[in-house]
Amino acid sequence: MGLLSGDTLGPLAVALLIFLLLLDLMHRRSRWAPRYPPGPTPLPVLGNLLQVDFEDPRPSFNQLRRRFGNVFSLQQVWTPVVVLNGLAAVREALVYRSQDTADRPPPAVYEHLGYGPRAEGVILARYGDAWREQRRFSLTTLRNFGLGKKSLEQWVTEEASCLCAAFADQAGRPFSPMDLLNKAVSNVIASLTFGCRFEYNDPRIIKLLDLTEDGLKEEFNLVRKVVEAVPVLLSIPGLAARVFPAQKAFMALIDELIAEQKMTRDPTQPPRHLTDAFLDEVKEAKGNPESSFNDENLRLVVADLFSAGMVTTSTTLAWALLLMILHPDVQRESSPGG
Ligand code: HEM
Repeated sequence: MGLLSGDTLGPLAVALLIFLLLLDLMHRRSRWAPRYPPGPTPLPVLGNLLQVDFEDPRPSFNQLRRRFGNVFSLQQVWTPVVVLNGLAAVREALVYRSQDTADRPPPAVYEHLGYGPRAEGVILARYGDAWREQRRFSLTTLRNFGLGKKSLEQWVTEEASCLCAAFADQAGRPFSPMDLLNKAVSNVIASLTFGCRFEYNDPRIIKLLDLTEDGLKEEFNLVRKVVEAVPVLLSIPGLAARVFPAQKAFMALIDELIAEQKMTRDPTQPPRHLTDAFLDEVKEAKGNPESSFNDENLRLVVADLFSAGMVTTSTTLAWALLLMILHPDVQRESSPGG
């Protein structure tokens, strides 16, 4: 007990503070380098975390843009961040200098979800062979989806009729279409990845959508930003499950859906969907340590397709519906027999 008495606690706290400030000084150095654009002065350790509202960063970014110009830098704990605003800056960075900006930071913060050197999915994969391999595989499989019993176009048309029927069930009452649009888009992605669709009241699709939404919210909280900058914190037992409960549950659901497909798979038959096609590649790649085709990566690639494809497509469809409502003449022209 004597070890942590009042007498020793004071000097210990001072020593810890000095240690943290020195550590902060070391990590700040890169931020001071003249090649970084201007930005607000960072606080010790936290950097600029308190100057940005991560729940909705746009107003804070707007203020900083007015002060520092279209390209400014921030320090997220000890990670330097450059923020681009406006078409010209974004085009210069992502189009004219795409080679310099194509890489992504190693997804250390997601190790608890199964990310590792041989499993990076597509969205977060480093700019290299594994990313190229998976991007090519996903695009080709999406494009060639005549490969199963049904082509992608048939799945989309079938889903569109289910969606129209669900809209008609509202019997003219006002309603938000977002939930149904999300379900319809998820079903098309599920047909591509698992060869199945879910009824709109199926508890699993409801869970999938809830977890996607909650998982996205987990990306924007302050603790998430701190563990991203200091991923070693995630080795504290139970912390990952507290900070990312929805993302972990989302991956568990994807695992369950893949396991079902593995059980019903007949390797002598042509692949029914993307999961089967991936498993064929895993078989081909057996013994090749360089390959990104492995069971750990399959779950990440599938999860990426759901998270990248769902909200993007359903939001685009929601805008299309709004524009159709605002322009009934165009709606009439584009409807069958219009
Ligand atoms: C209107 C709908 C969509 C929009 C607006 C959209 C937009 C985007 C954008 C802006 C990117 C970033 C591109 C880049 O970093 O170079 C991206 C990447 C991606 N999208 Fe989409 N997307 C849509 C639909 C979909 C769908 C339906 C899927 C799959 C089912 C999908 C899967 C992906 C994947 C896997 C990536 C990562 C690609 C990579 O890192 O190489 N997206 N999307």
